[in-house]
Amino acid sequence: MTGRPWDASYQDGPAPWDVGKPQQAIVRVGADGGFAGAVLDAGCGSGENALYVAALGFSVLGVDVAETALAIARAKAAERGIDVEFIAADALRLDRLRRGVDTVLDCGLFHTFDADERPGYVTSLASVTEHGGTLYVLCFSNEGPDTGPHPVSPEELTAAFNSGNGWKVVAIEPDRLDTRYHDNGAPAWFATVKRI
Ligand SMILES: C[S@@+](CC[C@H](N)C(=O)[O-])C[C@H]1O[C@@H](n2cnc3c(N)ncnc32)[C@H](O)[C@@H]1O
Repeated sequence: MTGRPWDASYQDGPAPWDVGKPQQAIVRVGADGGFAGAVLDAGCGSGENALYVAALGFSVLGVDVAETALAIARAKAAERGIDVEFIAADALRLDRLRRGVDTVLDCGLFHTFDADERPGYVTSLASVTEHGGTLYVLCFSNEGPDTGPHPVSPEELTAAFNSGNGWKVVAIEPDRLDTRYHDNGAPAWFATVKRI
């Protein structure tokens, strides 16, 4: 687990991505009825997306390597009276959870993994996602202007998730990824990926 550097980014005020509200893309999915069953938020950070989905009535597990982020997320859940499980776990080894989930959120995690790490991450996601389940990936776009620090192309997404490793990309839409330093979010891709 590579928790310590990530943890540091939560120790001294909000991190650039820690916007204090759910991502607009996730709110739209919720409004459109895009969540189902048990939900996993991979790299949940301080928990706003997980808390939003749980408030819709879903059973949500948020995992992260940053203990400080998890502590903040648990405090928000308690303060808001929302039931969410936040635990320390490595998204590269989700098999260790020994669980099955129906919907997975990735808001800003995929794009932090380099090309060498992505195959292991995709396998890890497959190990917890039930066949027929849905993964939503919100990542910085390679198409500007004012792109984020880890831009990803649609080709990289379709290469990462394919029938050979248990996935089918069903949509990649232009979107926005809210940060603390973009007025209306950074250019992003929102990918909907089915577990086959
Ligand atoms: C860019 S932040 C996004 C956080 C959150 N999803 C949000 O929207 O605020 C990426 C998060 O992934 C976490 N992370 C990085 N590598 C991880 C790993 N291998 N397993 C679990 N979490 C990880 C970091 O600690 C950080 O909280």
